[in-house]
Amino acid sequence: PFIVTEPCIRCKYTDCVAVCPMDCFVEGPNFLAIDPDGCIDCSVCVGECPVGAIVNAAEATPEQQPYIELNARLAKDPRWKPIRRPQPPLPDHIDWREVRDKRHLLES
Ligand code: SF4
Ligand code: F3S
Repeated sequence: PFIVTEPCIRCKYTDCVAVCPMDCFVEGPNFLAIDPDGCIDCSVCVGECPVGAIVNAAEATPEQQPYIELNARLAKDPRWKPIRRPQPPLPDHIDWREVRDKRHLLES
């Protein structure tokens, strides 16, 4: 499957959800995750993300590896809900889009 990784945190642009044919994105307070059971590896969401947060799990870097389990876990969290329509990004997305090491800021 494809996975959402760190750049999404505190940005949440949601352009990705508009193109997913399987509706496999779920939403939390400041991050989106992909349900690995729904993803058909079509890859169309990859180019939609303005911060390049979506990658193929099979090609994840060592830094991105933890996001494989994280996406799977959040997709099953009852507090995380499916999201099918784009919405405005988080208000301070500009301040966060270039920031690295945001993992500890992810709210779930
Ligand atoms: Fe949806 Fe395709 Fe992206 Fe998987 S790769 S999350 S099916 S758009
Ligand atoms: Fe996140 Fe990029 Fe989608 S920032 S919400 S993965 S468009």
